[in-house]
Amino acid sequence: MLSKVISAVCLTLWVSSCAISAAEDPHMARALKLMSETPLIDGHNDLPWQLRKQFNNQLNKVDLNTLDTTHTNIPKIKQGKLGAQFWSAYVPCDSQYKDAVRQTLEQIDVVHRMCQKYPDTFMFATSSQDIRTAFGQNKTASLIGVEGGHSIDSSMGTLRTMYQLGVRYLTLTHSCNTPWADNWLVDEGSDPSEHDGLSPFGKQVVVEMNRLGMLIDLAHVTVKVMNQVLDMSEAPVIFSHSSAYSICQHKRNVPDDVLKRVQEKKGIVMVNFYNDYVTCSETANISDVADHFDHIKKVAGPDIIGFGGDYDGVTRLPEGLEDVSKVPNVVAELLRRGWTDEEVKKALGDNLLRVFTEAEAVRERLTNNKPDDVPIPYAEVKNSCRTSHGYPDVEEPTGAANSLSTLALQLTLALQALLLLSAL
Ligand SMILES: *[C@@H]1O[C@H](CO)[C@@H](O)[C@H](O)[C@H]1NC(C)=O
Ligand SMILES: *[C@@H]1O[C@H](CO)[C@@H](O)[C@H](O)[C@H]1NC(C)=O
Ligand SMILES: [Zn+2]
Repeated sequence: MLSKVISAVCLTLWVSSCAISAAEDPHMARALKLMSETPLIDGHNDLPWQLRKQFNNQLNKVDLNTLDTTHTNIPKIKQGKLGAQFWSAYVPCDSQYKDAVRQTLEQIDVVHRMCQKYPDTFMFATSSQDIRTAFGQNKTASLIGVEGGHSIDSSMGTLRTMYQLGVRYLTLTHSCNTPWADNWLVDEGSDPSEHDGLSPFGKQVVVEMNRLGMLIDLAHVTVKVMNQVLDMSEAPVIFSHSSAYSICQHKRNVPDDVLKRVQEKKGIVMVNFYNDYVTCSETANISDVADHFDHIKKVAGPDIIGFGGDYDGVTRLPEGLEDVSKVPNVVAELLRRGWTDEEVKKALGDNLLRVFTEAEAVRERLTNNKPDDVPIPYAEVKNSCRTSHGYPDVEEPTGAANSLSTLALQLTLALQALLLLSAL
């Protein structure tokens, strides 16, 4: 019966590799069975960014049933048995201090519209229970993660509002420092450390995210930030799309000592499939990806592993994992390597569900805590695109030119004072 279903699916979609592997490979048959019992929950997919890049978010002009310029479309989602997806509301770092907040809101909006346009495929989701419900209805639970602290523009009110709009994780940085957190490029040596990890405001953000029940994503931050958050977070943390540093020494990956701390805190590391993070080279295959799963399991056990493919956010993917329809290939490979059904189910979705449920429980525990309304010090965010309304005793700059002339005036005055002093 199962194989009939599988071959029907394969015939319908006319994907020969699937037909061969499902028909002849008992591991693939087992993988698909497990995936029908436990939702595959993926931590990071950049389809919304592709919708902006390719269509300027004009979803009316897109048919996700036939779209073939992305790693992700509806037939591929069905074939890959994608149970739940954290869609990334990502905007690049060059929007920081400019229109990052607007652009992020637009990415959140396009995910909402995608769910409304294809209600038979997607169910918008904001809780662990929603993921279970969607899976029971054969729909892909669709959650939102905001990738990069620059998207909240150092504003707790913006963070909270994004939570209200359905955002359930925030990656503390993308590939740039924010006014309150250092990013992984600091560890690589190409960005300067500005905060030695998190600034005091950065720590406020962590506390507030715990209170809200928003997952803290440590992909893209420095090892220092990883450890600071592991020290202070009440809820388990996630790495939405990072792999194992011991297997590929890329600073986007997670070192073994951090893996062990994630285990202690009952968090999760969702493995990224980007070739450059899998093999530290331009090519990779399914076996290379499975090596990361094996390594994480060896170092920190089966309870911290998940999937975070980074589809549509990367340019190079392993042979056999070219798009979201191929994810069952990894599951079959893990079974081939002796992973038990229980271990596979943990990696598929049970671990993320546990982490998410615990973050929700922390929110319930902290329900009597007040929202943090202490703003970031003005000096830490002062720039020509930001006003100081609400900050007392701050002279309002009325533009870059103006503040330059103010500076010139101050210099002139200082010089005059010096001359006066030397004259005395
Ligand atoms: C979901 O799909 C499975 C397998 O295709 C089917 O047996 C089941 O009836 C479907 N459930 C719903 C609620 O549509
Ligand atoms: C995958 O690539 C590795 C090199 O990274 C190679 O040793 C291995 O044989 C390949 N495996 C398969 C199944 O192609
Ligand atoms: Zn990323």
